[in-house]
Amino acid sequence: MVRETEPGERRVALVPELVGKLTDLGYEVCVEPCAGKTADFSDAEYAEAGAIVSDGVLGGADVVVAVQPLTPSRVATLRSGAAVISFLPTGQAMESADLVRNLRDAHVSAFAMELIPRISRAQAMDALSSQALVAGYRCCIVAAEQLRRFFPLNMTAAGTVPPAEIVVLGAGVAGLQAIATAKRLGAVVKAYDVRAAAAEEIASMGAQPIDLKLETLEGAGGYAREMTENRAALQRELLTPYIAAADALITTAAVPGRRAPLLVTRDMVETMKPGSVVVDLAAETGGNVEGSIPGEEVTIGNALVWGAANVPSQMPGPASRLYSQNVVNLITLMTSDGRFEPDFEDEVVAGSCVTHTGEVRHEPTREFVEGTA
Ligand code: NAI
Repeated sequence: MVRETEPGERRVALVPELVGKLTDLGYEVCVEPCAGKTADFSDAEYAEAGAIVSDGVLGGADVVVAVQPLTPSRVATLRSGAAVISFLPTGQAMESADLVRNLRDAHVSAFAMELIPRISRAQAMDALSSQALVAGYRCCIVAAEQLRRFFPLNMTAAGTVPPAEIVVLGAGVAGLQAIATAKRLGAVVKAYDVRAAAAEEIASMGAQPIDLKLETLEGAGGYAREMTENRAALQRELLTPYIAAADALITTAAVPGRRAPLLVTRDMVETMKPGSVVVDLAAETGGNVEGSIPGEEVTIGNALVWGAANVPSQMPGPASRLYSQNVVNLITLMTSDGRFEPDFEDEVVAGSCVTHTGEVRHEPTREFVEGTA
């Protein structure tokens, strides 16, 4: 397991309490020194759990686990035939083809956690869901911290303090967790999502689904489809009064493989009251809110707009524990008789594989890599 090198990344791919699961499967576990430090796991804890804590172990590893993709210089140290399991942008989410080219040319078998199929059997390996859960919780806490008012109703002898009104746009894994957290804090929560099943899911959290009387937009696998510009403009117009009335707005909308949809314009934010807060969880992937900047707080009209940047890493302990469980479950699936032997007939293995035996196996990624050759 590697020490992460990407600036701002505090998570680790394997937590000490799960080292034993891998040694039980027959693996020798090596951990780079200080790998767990930013998530509050010490080298001593890894050693106690049975890991070898040492530098220079990458070259001999059969399987390397990481959160962020390995840098080219680290890929260069891997032996041919080694496997890497990490997050790895693929297809249209790729900024450059170099990373995948490096993995392909080094004959590394790369598995991307983003590509684990969203099927019931693979839920225990679904790192997008586990990290979205952390992000959804955290972005509600940020809204509560930034808002200089109570979330809950308070009835006192001196009078009643009304609860804060929170609007959540996008009610997938992260949005539902933000809704649940805001409800636990006692706020009045209204939420909107384009998927048909969303209204019921929002109501099941005790929040009020916003009904814009627009057609639902459902694509393959229960995911949202991209909106036409007409539909987007109408949705923005109909949402404006809800946003103007909100004390805090939390946006979490995404469409797989696409830029995040623009749901809220600058003009809409300008209708919000003094002291309002906007948390844009999609800031890094294009932004649901016009003008939000990843990792920064900006003021638009009366509102403070907080742009998300690697939010799961802001709670590195729990995020690492969940990610590590996802990774260990994937490795378990790929292990047979104490050896790492992925079965490429298995839908989860085949679906998550990006490179193998010198080829790019993931179709949209191969198109991108070949298109930029
Ligand atoms: P996501 O992160 O891709 O998107 C977040 C939410 O944004 C989605 O609910 C989407 O409908 C919504 N959205 C997209 N465009 C929008 C717009 N214009 N306005 C408002 N909302 C918009 O989604 P996430 O969290 O990954 O989950 C989405 C769905 O995926 C789930 O409800 C479920 O059907 C499926 N899923 C399946 C899993 C499994 O079977 N293992 C695990 C997790 C999710």
